[in-house]
Amino acid sequence: MIQYHGWHYDEMKQVGTDYADVREVEAYDARMQKLRDIGEETEKIFTALNIEQDQTLLEVGCGTGEFTIAAAGQDVKNIEFHNAGFLTYEHSGEPIDAVLSQLALHHLPDFWKIIALWRVYSLLKDGGRFYLRDTVYSFEVDGYKDFFDEWVDGIRNAAGDETAIDVETAVREEYTTLGWIMEGLLERAGFHIDKKEYSEGFMAAYVSTKR
Ligand SMILES: C[S@@+](CC[C@H](N)C(=O)[O-])C[C@H]1O[C@@H](n2cnc3c(N)ncnc32)[C@H](O)[C@@H]1O
Repeated sequence: MIQYHGWHYDEMKQVGTDYADVREVEAYDARMQKLRDIGEETEKIFTALNIEQDQTLLEVGCGTGEFTIAAAGQDVKNIEFHNAGFLTYEHSGEPIDAVLSQLALHHLPDFWKIIALWRVYSLLKDGGRFYLRDTVYSFEVDGYKDFFDEWVDGIRNAAGDETAIDVETAVREEYTTLGWIMEGLLERAGFHIDKKEYSEGFMAAYVSTKR
């Protein structure tokens, strides 16, 4: 068991929405069904990462494991689960072929994001790929009030009050950063960003390679 220093960020302490709460997690997938097409996301990730059958994929912050299960071809024997996060996962064995993380990195403050990215980098084999999709802001900051109001209203209309409250909580308490900061963090961690895609002012996906 690794001993962490008193100054180390405690990533097991939930910020914003409490994903250690079983009821919260049970409701999560149902809410996401209204907003996301998991099948389409899975296809996109497979294409971007180009994973072959005998390769190793690490998903960080897997939530209820929807992607992991699809990636393992429904054969759960292929999956190892570790109760650890970006800052605490310890890898043993060969370097990993690909890493994926969706909607999890914004749970860390920016300083700890670069530590997280640098740890992901060090787990990968040379040429290994990293697919990162997260909430990242790309709207003009002088319009932030209108942007957040419209975002919350849009989510309320599409998925109801509970999900709108989730968005409000996330904006207030979690650590979504700006696109230019995220690109700098990825590059400073050593990655080459092959592809970046910003959407809706609050989402981004990056496909990066370990140089
Ligand atoms: C919004 S959910 C996303 C779940 C899933 N990846 C998805 O796309 O639906 C956020 C996830 O990030 C996880 N998480 C929070 N902090 C984390 C950290 N420091 N390292 C890894 N995962 C973390 C939570 O436990 C939760 O599973």
